[in-house]
Amino acid sequence: MTERLEIKDLYKVFSSTPAPALEMLARGCGKSEVFEKLGVVVGLNNVSLSVPQGAVYMIMGLSGSGKSTFARCINRLNEPTAGQVLLDGRDIVPLGEAELREVRRTRISMVFQHFALLPNKRVIDNVEFGLKLRGVPAAERRRRAEEVLTVVGLGRWGYHFPHELSGGMRQRVGLARALATDADILIMDEAFSALDPLIRTEMQDELLRLQRTLNKTILFITHDFQEALKLGTRIAIMSEGELVREGTPQSIVLEPGSDYVAAFTREIDRSRLFDARLAMRPAETILQSEQGTLVSEAGGCGFMVDGSGKVLGVLNASDLGRARAGGGIGPLSSDYVSVRPGAKLIEVARSYRDGRPIAVVDDDGRLIGSLGVDDILARIASTAPRAQAAGERHVQG
Ligand SMILES: Nc1ncnc2c1ncn2[C@@H]1O[C@H](COP(=O)(O)OP(=O)(O)OP(=O)(O)O)[C@@H](O)[C@H]1O
Ligand SMILES: [Mg+2]
Repeated sequence: MTERLEIKDLYKVFSSTPAPALEMLARGCGKSEVFEKLGVVVGLNNVSLSVPQGAVYMIMGLSGSGKSTFARCINRLNEPTAGQVLLDGRDIVPLGEAELREVRRTRISMVFQHFALLPNKRVIDNVEFGLKLRGVPAAERRRRAEEVLTVVGLGRWGYHFPHELSGGMRQRVGLARALATDADILIMDEAFSALDPLIRTEMQDELLRLQRTLNKTILFITHDFQEALKLGTRIAIMSEGELVREGTPQSIVLEPGSDYVAAFTREIDRSRLFDARLAMRPAETILQSEQGTLVSEAGGCGFMVDGSGKVLGVLNASDLGRARAGGGIGPLSSDYVSVRPGAKLIEVARSYRDGRPIAVVDDDGRLIGSLGVDDILARIASTAPRAQAAGERHVQG
């Protein structure tokens, strides 16, 4: 995947004379020390991250941790104090007014928590607004606006005024407005946070559905970890203006790395997040025979696989014992369950019937591992912050 958006060493200091604060940060001081010493607020402290094309990238953190500042620095609603914002490799921080306006019109759309709709304009005119600024002809922008309003479920509301709509509906107009512009990067700052739970869930589903066809690059800010898990392909967690943890949802829950991050993950239902690959034991060769290769199974049985790794059948525990002792390979049974590596553990647990062995097989039917009920329970039970994983960022909180 290409990097659509790359943020490098980004700093935001809310001061007209930021140099002393930057100097303190460079020495390793944190946001609170800078505030104590200089009375200056640090919004971002050396944030770097990459957002690949097509990702739904989640930014999380407690209130005041710098999420909105980060989002606003990306399209320069906040001017970065130092660092780069690379859009397809081009730094947009040095751009002049005209070029920046062009980037905002054509590349980056923002959806805020409280979307400012123009109250004296009809819904459809609100949705068309960005296109009008871009000089899109009237008929074309009307067609496009009607299309996206239908997409967000407001097809019949285009000719009403914002005050005639509920808060949730207005939020959807905001989303429609952002979608209508064709910008390939969407920044959504707590876009669903003000919605009631039912509508919020609907909007999340809607966004996921849209994303499958639109394939935009989405930076989504939330303080709700459930939302981050549901929507995100990757999650970055901020604290005190710094990025303290970055990774896939699964890896963050598995290894939060600090108490600050672990606190977000505590209530998460791991059986719905973790997949079979994470809990399985990799297939290990026990012996080769002319029938095929015999590999161990988590429950004490053995799977026989052919030369390409496809499962031929399973050998029960006593036959496996005999085979190990050199007593030949007994009859193979087809009494086992197959799951895909991406199957969530809750589904795997449901398919765990009568103690039958579970094979984890890839799309071509090749065995990559196996798992028993103990492996599932062990994974689901793991809650403690664990040691640092290779290639992933952590700080101690
Ligand atoms: N215009 C500003 N002037 C001075 N300080 C600011 C400004 N905007 C934000 N800050 C400060 O920057 C820090 C980060 O604020 P930000 O709004 O980015 O937090 P957030 O993570 O979005 O919080 P929330 O979850 O409450 O929206 C805070 O300490 C805040 O006080
Ligand atoms: Mg915010």
